[in-house]
Amino acid sequence: MDWNEVFLMSNSSPIGIFDSGVGGLSIAKEIRQLLPNEDLLYYADSAYCPYGEKPPEVIKQRVYLLSDFLLSKGAKMLVVACNTASIVSLDDMRKKYRVPVVGVEPAVKPAVAATKTGTIGVLATGVTLSGDRFSSLVKCFGSKTKVVTQPCPGLVELVENGNINSAETEKLLSKYIKPLLEQNADTIVLGCTHYPFLKSKIQELAGPGIKVLDTGKPVARQTARVLNEFGLNNAQHHQGKEFFYTSGKQETVEPVIRLLWSYERLKVNHILLGGISSAVN
Ligand code: DGL
Repeated sequence: MDWNEVFLMSNSSPIGIFDSGVGGLSIAKEIRQLLPNEDLLYYADSAYCPYGEKPPEVIKQRVYLLSDFLLSKGAKMLVVACNTASIVSLDDMRKKYRVPVVGVEPAVKPAVAATKTGTIGVLATGVTLSGDRFSSLVKCFGSKTKVVTQPCPGLVELVENGNINSAETEKLLSKYIKPLLEQNADTIVLGCTHYPFLKSKIQELAGPGIKVLDTGKPVARQTARVLNEFGLNNAQHHQGKEFFYTSGKQETVEPVIRLLWSYERLKVNHILLGGISSAVN
């Protein structure tokens, strides 16, 4: 990325968003709702999903490839809609790229503020929970709170398959929520962007007294703040469009994108899957 490329970007350029798969749509849909006139590029790296069980170096490599791809499509900023990718690569991305970069991290701070029992639970991938950024987050905000962490292998794959209401999903969720409740957590942080699509099931299993927090809205607000700060808001009064890309198989990924995007009664605008994705394989 050099300055000449940055100069080619304008306020009407799109926002580039990516995740290991379809999970980051939980962030993208909040950005869509808050910023209706922005165009969005979304990259689902489904062929390399899950990131949560890959070495950080491999994840970082994917992050750079996807970022370069989105910038080559004219993205004026990047939103890393993935806790795992943010944990391992945000600091380096901010050094490498000259466009603003927004990331996502588990909502430990609001959970600490909300807990009455003094115990919070965090559901996330193993890579997120063992990352330095996560340890600093806990050190910074959770020093007086008991933080119970729970890696959740298998959950991301279920969401990737659009399998959000099955008995299998419920069984796995119960297994992961149980230890948090047994240790008296009254606030559960969804530390992976795939999990908000399971939020109503998680809430149902955890019970009405338990708060379940995700980061979609705060990340959308941060995206809006950063656009303002850099003077990058799209001034056009139009309905923003979405362009979806994936490294996965179009016939598998497209129906899941449609399912999850329209989950919030959002209209699917432009789906451009496959083909171009080979550029980052
Ligand atoms: N959506 C992801 C996250 O927020 C990625 C999970 C994965 O690919 O394992 O961490």
